[in-house]
Amino acid sequence: MPTPKGYSRTQISLHWIVAILLVPQLFLEDGIKGAWRAVERGEPSQTGTLAWLHIGLGIVILLLVLWRLGLRFTRGAPEALGAGLQQKAAGLVHWLLYALLIVTPMTGLAAWFGGIASAAEVHEAMKPAILILAVLHIAAALWHQFGLKDNLLNRMRQPEA
Ligand code: HEM
Ligand code: HEM
Repeated sequence: MPTPKGYSRTQISLHWIVAILLVPQLFLEDGIKGAWRAVERGEPSQTGTLAWLHIGLGIVILLLVLWRLGLRFTRGAPEALGAGLQQKAAGLVHWLLYALLIVTPMTGLAAWFGGIASAAEVHEAMKPAILILAVLHIAAALWHQFGLKDNLLNRMRQPEA
């Protein structure tokens, strides 16, 4: 995998677009939960606008994350800052976030379109996992920026030409 000095404009845009799309996806859940409950009870369809929005946005997030991963493997990404364990932890959290952002929409699709109830349970369990890792990730980014003052945030703001 190549190791460029910084992220590209596309990588930076994708990072922030996915971060923003995750907010409604994680917190506007009543529509899809109601629709799924109706499916489980075999009741008539309750799939309203909010539920379709969850499904549509979820598919968009999946496609954007696949695009990001494609870029990660072809163009590469800069080496995590720091050394030793700290650097390994940053890399691990990044890969876990990517994995969760693939597994979550896939299990959603398997539940909704494949009728696999156990996939819905895994899907549900992904919410706290994503939140915990995102909080760790954001706290680390802020610690770098304001504690270590190494201007890490600039790497997700300023593209490498
Ligand atoms: C306020 C929110 C956020 C801030 C300040 C932030 C900041 C950053 C920064 C500075 C980097 C570059 C790290 C480096 O160069 O070593 C980064 C990378 C990354 N961020 Fe975020 N981030 C935020 C939200 C998120 C969210 C919500 C997700 C996904 C759930 C996410 C997923 C990732 C991933 C996967 C990478 C690694 C990119 C790669 O190397 O391919 N970030 N983030
Ligand atoms: C990254 C993308 C996605 C995220 C972050 C996400 C997140 C969530 C969250 C937080 C819930 C509520 C869980 C709870 O009950 O506490 C939920 C429910 C659900 N989502 Fe998604 N979702 C995503 C993509 C999708 C996709 C693509 C589908 C496919 C149709 C989908 C289908 C469902 C279904 C059927 C439920 C109801 C399951 C249940 O409540 O047990 N999701 N999702």
